[in-house]
Amino acid sequence: MMKDDVARILITKEQIAARVKEIAADIKKDFGDEDLVMICILRGSCYFFADLTKSLDNSVTLEFMSVSSYGSGTTSSGEVRINKDVSSPIEGKNVIVVEDIIDTGYTLSYLKRILSERRPKALKICTLLDKPSRREAEIEGDYVGFEIPNEFVVGYGLDYAQKYRNLPEVGVLKEEIYKK
Ligand code: PRP
Repeated sequence: MMKDDVARILITKEQIAARVKEIAADIKKDFGDEDLVMICILRGSCYFFADLTKSLDNSVTLEFMSVSSYGSGTTSSGEVRINKDVSSPIEGKNVIVVEDIIDTGYTLSYLKRILSERRPKALKICTLLDKPSRREAEIEGDYVGFEIPNEFVVGYGLDYAQKYRNLPEVGVLKEEIYKK
């Protein structure tokens, strides 16, 4: 069973649900009833994106992007490639990029740079998790769910080798799993 590989639960379903509502309220404070374009960065943010967009009563266009950093393993290398781009221009729109985690920050600093070149009206970064202790690139989330310590987390979209994404909470993976 997947959950046998988890050492402990870091963030419960209830904590996630409550924080999603608070973030939606913060977005509402900033944008009022304006239309939004929200971009899901595949695949880690899929559940957060689904829950967050449903918590907003604005008219929201759902967009999806897929990016990957070169190299493999558990750390990013700094170079980012777009595998799938948004389907419509974002010029003049209120854009919110939705991520599951900011780790080194390379992915989001790259995304922020290329998306801002497309001249959106507003561009905000929303992340469920933030690991500030790992930061190498200069980037901050405008909406941050939880600051977490430097532990190997999985669940609620986050994976290890494509597994554990569908755990409903965020847990710390047992060391023996990723050190095998
Ligand atoms: C993860 C995560 C972020 C990025 C964060 O994506 O979803 O996009 O790494 O790391 P960084 O701040 O060090 O750049 P991953 O490439 O693992 O893809 P996934 O979302 O499909 O799991």
